Amino acid sequence: MAIRFEGNIFHLTTDHTLYQMGLDAFGVLYHLWYGEKTECSMCYLYHYPDVGFSGNPYEAGKLRTYSMDTLPLEYATEGNGDYRIPAAAVVNSDGSCALDLRYESYEIREGKYEIPGLPAVYADEAQAQTLEIHMRDAVSGLAVTLKYGVLEADDVITRSVVFENRGEQPIRLTRAHSMCLALPDGAWDWMHFHGRHTMERQMERRELFHGIQQIGSTRGTSSHQQNPAVILCERDCTETSGCCIGAALMYSGGFQAQIEVDQMEQVRMVLGIDPETFSWTLAQGECFYTPEVILSCSTQGLTKLSQQFHSVIRNHVCRGSYQLSARPVLINNWEATYFDFDEEKILSIAKQASELGIDLMVLDDGWFGKRDNDCSGLGDWTVNEQKLKGGLGALIEKVNALGMRFGLWFEPEMVSEDSDLYRAHPDWALRIPGRNPVRSRYQLVLDLSREDVRAYLYESISRLLRENHIEYVKWDMNRSICDWYSAFLPTERQSELPHRYILGLYELLERLTTEFPDVLFEGCSGGGGRFDAGMLYYCPQIWCSDDTDAHERTFIQYGTSFFYPVSTVGSHVSAVPNHQTGRITSLETRGTVAMAGSFGYELDLNLLSEEEKHTVSEQVKHYRQMQMLIHDGRYFRLSDPCKDEMAAWSFVSEDQSQVLVQGVIYRACPNTLRCRLRLRGLNAQAHYRIAGEKQVYSGSALMAGGILLPRAAGDDVSFELYLELVKKA
Ligand code: GLA
Repeated sequence: MAIRFEGNIFHLTTDHTLYQMGLDAFGVLYHLWYGEKTECSMCYLYHYPDVGFSGNPYEAGKLRTYSMDTLPLEYATEGNGDYRIPAAAVVNSDGSCALDLRYESYEIREGKYEIPGLPAVYADEAQAQTLEIHMRDAVSGLAVTLKYGVLEADDVITRSVVFENRGEQPIRLTRAHSMCLALPDGAWDWMHFHGRHTMERQMERRELFHGIQQIGSTRGTSSHQQNPAVILCERDCTETSGCCIGAALMYSGGFQAQIEVDQMEQVRMVLGIDPETFSWTLAQGECFYTPEVILSCSTQGLTKLSQQFHSVIRNHVCRGSYQLSARPVLINNWEATYFDFDEEKILSIAKQASELGIDLMVLDDGWFGKRDNDCSGLGDWTVNEQKLKGGLGALIEKVNALGMRFGLWFEPEMVSEDSDLYRAHPDWALRIPGRNPVRSRYQLVLDLSREDVRAYLYESISRLLRENHIEYVKWDMNRSICDWYSAFLPTERQSELPHRYILGLYELLERLTTEFPDVLFEGCSGGGGRFDAGMLYYCPQIWCSDDTDAHERTFIQYGTSFFYPVSTVGSHVSAVPNHQTGRITSLETRGTVAMAGSFGYELDLNLLSEEEKHTVSEQVKHYRQMQMLIHDGRYFRLSDPCKDEMAAWSFVSEDQSQVLVQGVIYRACPNTLRCRLRLRGLNAQAHYRIAGEKQVYSGSALMAGGILLPRAAGDDVSFELYLELVKKA
C-alpha cells in the first residue's frame, strides 16, 4: 500500500521515498517528512519552545508552545496567526481575511485523480493511489480538499487542491497555491531556471537566506524569464549524491514560487498560480481547482531527480500517437525564408530535404491572411494565395509526392489589428476600455476565456486539419499578456481572466488533440517561453528556444534537462553565421547539439555544398539509428557547462548495454593533456568497447577513470562516442 493512515499519521511511500503528515489534537494537519524512506514516524524531530511573538490559537488554552507561526503546516493559510508565506488566502464576505483549516476526514482510492479542465499526471489504477484530505474553515464554510497522487514506482507525488464554498456567502480566493512544503531546517540550496527570449532556462543555484526568496511570472504565460519548476537541495548535493526535491507546476500561465526560511530556520515552499494577477470568487456551492504540482525526491543527487521527472513526464504527462514513438526529422523554413517565400521556394527546400532523408516539411509563419511581415494577418487562418498560388492542398500534395509529410505553423491565440478578424470582432481582443492596448510584435491577444473566440479558433484550425493532409502543427504564442480585461466578464470577475484564459487554452488544445491524436503538436512561444508540464500534456515536444546557435543551445538544453526529457526538446540545425549570435560553428557541432532532442533542420539546404549535404544525410541516418536510445535511454549530465569549459551528456539504455556520449568542448587549448570525462550509469562489472576502437574497458574504469576525449582543434568542437557492452565469450 503506497498510502496508509495509522496512529494519526499519513504515510505516502514510493519505492525510495517517504512523505509523511500528522494530525494533532486540534485537527491541524502538519508536515513531518519528505525524503529518504524510513519506517518510523518522524514526529520526534519536532519540539517547539514557547516562542515570543508567535501567538497561540484560542483553543490551545495555556499551551504557549503551540503556535501556527512555528508549526510545519501542511497547507498554510493567511489570517490564523501564522505570519509566514501562506499557500491560500481569502477575503470573506464580511471583508475579513481569516482562513483556518481543520481536518474533517480522508479517503484513499486506487488510481490517480483527475482535475476538471486542467492537465494532470495520468496513471493506471495499478500504477497510482490517491489520497484526499478534507479540511474546512468552520466559520466561512470553505471546504478545502488536499489531493495527493502517489506513483510508487516513479518516486513521484502529485499535489492539487480543491476549494468548495459550502457556506452561504461568497468567498474570494486571493491566493490558491497548489502546494505547500515544509522542511525541518534551512541548510538547503535552491535551483531555478531564469532567462529571456532566446536565452531560456539558465540554471541558477543559491543558498537559501532568511526571509522570502521568490520567482514567478506575471506575464500570463509560464515565461522565458522564469520556468515554473524549482529544486531544493542539500548544500552538498551534487549530480550523483545528496538529497534534492523537485517541484514542477503543470501550468502554462502566470505562476509564483516562494521559499521562506523562518525565524526557527525551518523552510517552507509554496508554488501555484501567480497571486498578483489572480483572484476568484466562489459563490455558494462553487468549486475552484488548482493546477497540479509534480513532486519528486532523490537521495542520490540531481541526475537521478532529473531522470525521475523525465520518466514521469514521458510516461504519465505526454500523450498522443507520438508520446513514445519516433519523432519525424523535420525541416522548417523559418530561418531559411522568414516571410519571403512562395510555393516554388518551399518546394525547392522540401525537394532537397527529401533527397537527404528528412521526413517532414514544416511551413512556418506567413502562409495565411495578409502576412508579409509581422504587422498583419494574425487571426485570418485562410491560405494566402498570393504566396501559395494553387492553395494549401496543392502544395501538400506536391510535398507528399516527394515522400515527405507536411506540417503547418499557427499562432491561434493572437490577432493583428490589420486583419479581417479584428475588423469584424475588435472586442475579441484583450483590451481595457478607454485605454490603448500594449502591442507586442505589433499584435494583440485574443480573449480565450470566451467561448465564441474558442469556437472560431476550433473551426478554423480543425477545418484545415480535416481538409488537408496536415500531420504536424506548430502552436506558437509570441508575446507576454497584459491589458487583462474581457468584454465578456462582469466587473467583479475581471481578476479571474488570466486563469480563465489558460482554462480556455487548455479546452481548445484538448479538443483539437483529442480529435487529431495522430497529428504531432509542437508547442512554441517565441521558442521556449511556455516550456512547462502543462503544455507537454497536449504537445509532446516544444521548440526549445529561438536561439539556434549550437554553443548557446548547450546552456539552454542543460538547464532544460533538469526537469524535461530530451524527447520534448525541439532542436534544429540552422545556418551559419548563426542568425541570433553571428557565431560560426561546424555542421558537425550543430548536428551533435541538435540531436540531443527532437531533431530537425531550419535553413535553406539548397545553399549547402555537396560535402555539407552529404554530412546532413549522414546525420539524419545516424539520428534515426540513435533516436530511441536518445529518447528512451537514461539521460546523464556529465559536465556543468558554466564551470567545465565543456558541455557533455550521455544516454544509457535501460539495460546498460548501449551508451551514447556527446558533447562540445568550448575552447581549444595548446599544449595540454587530453581531457578526461567520467561516464555515469554504466554497469560497473560489465565491459564496454568504444565503436571504432579495439580496446575493451570495464564499466568501473569508465566511471572512475573516465574516457579520454579527442583533442579539440578549434573552438566549439563536438565529440561523440558510442559504447557497446562486450558480450562475454
Ligand atoms: C516564433 C517562433 C519561431 C517562428 C516565428 C515565426 O518566434 O519561435 O520559431 O515560428 O515565431 O513568426
